[in-house]
Amino acid sequence: MKVAATLTVNGAAYPVELHPHTSLLAAVRDAIGLTGSKEGCDDSECGACMMLLDGKPVNACSYLALQAEGSEITTVEGLAEGGEPSPLQRAFLEQGGVQCGFCTPGMLISATALLRANPQPSEDEVRIALSGNLCRCTGYDGIVKAVLSVASAAPATRRTR
Ligand code: FES
Ligand code: FES
Repeated sequence: MKVAATLTVNGAAYPVELHPHTSLLAAVRDAIGLTGSKEGCDDSECGACMMLLDGKPVNACSYLALQAEGSEITTVEGLAEGGEPSPLQRAFLEQGGVQCGFCTPGMLISATALLRANPQPSEDEVRIALSGNLCRCTGYDGIVKAVLSVASAAPATRRTR
């Protein structure tokens, strides 16, 4: 039996009807039609499905969609700013952070969450923040360089750690 719910994705409210066991990933991709988030492992291992839930990255393949009702869900489609790619999205392109691109949506979500919490992370902090995101192309250096290039362009902040 399906249950009526409303999911708020990238600032828009979407009325949906979902089975109680439907994952957030399936709801967003199949019921809402936003296919930027990818299904890799479907088992919380690869991070390809990552979305922000009230600003925190979650593996949407392993999160029940109905539990996300009432939260702000952000997918890779919601990272653009004023219809233009965000600085992080541009940096991925410029620094060779996009190869086959399958992992890219999840990488962008994790890195966005990191940069919002810590605008000037160290390389180690970037690598730790992205440790839940697997790139099968193994081209992590371009991805890390992209995140660090945005960090180095951020206004200097006093670090408290
Ligand atoms: S598809 Fe969700 S973690 Fe791999
Ligand atoms: S760019 Fe291919 S999986 Fe990462």
